[in-house]
Amino acid sequence: MLMDTFGRRAVDLRVSLTDRCNLRCTYCMPEQGLAWLPKPSLLSDAEIVRLVGIAVGELGVREVRFTGGEPLLRPGLVGIVEACAGLVPRPELSLTTNGVGLARTASALRGAGLDRVNVSLDTVDPETFRVLTRRDRVGEVFEGLAAADAVGLRPVKVNAVLMRGVNDHQAADLLGWCLERGYELRFIEQMPLDAQHGWDRTGMVTAEEILARLGERFTLVPEPDGRRGAAPAERWLVQGWTGADGGPARVGVIASVTRPFCRACDRTRLTADGQVRNCLFSTQETDLRGALRGGADDAAVAELWRAAMWGKKAGGGIDNPEFTQPDRPMSAIGG
Ligand code: GTP
Ligand code: 5AD
Ligand code: SF4
Repeated sequence: MLMDTFGRRAVDLRVSLTDRCNLRCTYCMPEQGLAWLPKPSLLSDAEIVRLVGIAVGELGVREVRFTGGEPLLRPGLVGIVEACAGLVPRPELSLTTNGVGLARTASALRGAGLDRVNVSLDTVDPETFRVLTRRDRVGEVFEGLAAADAVGLRPVKVNAVLMRGVNDHQAADLLGWCLERGYELRFIEQMPLDAQHGWDRTGMVTAEEILARLGERFTLVPEPDGRRGAAPAERWLVQGWTGADGGPARVGVIASVTRPFCRACDRTRLTADGQVRNCLFSTQETDLRGALRGGADDAAVAELWRAAMWGKKAGGGIDNPEFTQPDRPMSAIGG
């Protein structure tokens, strides 16, 4: 079991498969990209599967989400999914992707055992997408979403970050577009995890503002059981709309900054270079890659992982005046 001193248990593992990306969202990284991790420092496919196996077999992890950077850029992705689907007990397997290239791989991923996908899409307007991601590829994301839905990677969720003056006025358009297609949209408050360290609280579009904007066009009713367990999104039912499962359609808001959910956090993270992070915002990491390559057995690796989680702080501390942004940006941590 992965427990911390506040009694929280980590049952949800997020694995970053690469720090690279084929988009350049302005809230994430600069046009020229970042100093990517050198190849030898990346975990191999076999090392990733071994660590996921330890997490599932010895540490009580039940859900595994693959992230990046952009995880579809990892050549061995389908094989990694397939091997993880063969673990006992079988974890729930999901992927968070920007959707570029998903049309080509959705079917293979489904066949390998992937259960569902979350696709990042901040706008459906091609020109805004081009400005925001610095790439003219929105059509590929649309195709990726449709392919994921068609092969049954459901529920298909869409993640959107709003930026003031860029895409915040399009929030209701994006919701309408997702509702028409049966995708579950979640708006995310922007967190201080950008590589440029340009985040500023006053510029951030808050959950409150997002809900007010959506309320101009849609009638939202808080979902009766609110946030389900440790899920980061608070959800609302959209009156008059039906979701893909035939039930009421929903929209979510992930208010990481104004309504942090650290007290219910059930996550542990593994970076592409084999470091455990007990929090998105932690300033310390535990080196499992070194242990693996030094010949540690599974029990010893599990012990290091347990110790890393035991030291988890109460919260990310964005509200603390002494908050310092972690050295690594979101793209290297894995969302
Ligand atoms: P579901 O299981 O589908 O609800 O996935 P998810 O929302 O946990 O994962 P996803 O990768 O889609 O992440 C959505 C947003 O939530 C991203 O902006 C993540 O950075 C953010 N997020 C995920 N985990 C955490 C966390 O532990 N803390 C905070 N503050 N934000 C998180
Ligand atoms: N704050 C909040 N969400 C972010 N994402 C990327 N950077 C940030 C940030 N600084 C989103 C991506 C993707 C998800 C994994 O995290 O848009 O949907
Ligand atoms: Fe790539 Fe995601 Fe960062 Fe956009 S937010 S540049 S899609 S890693």
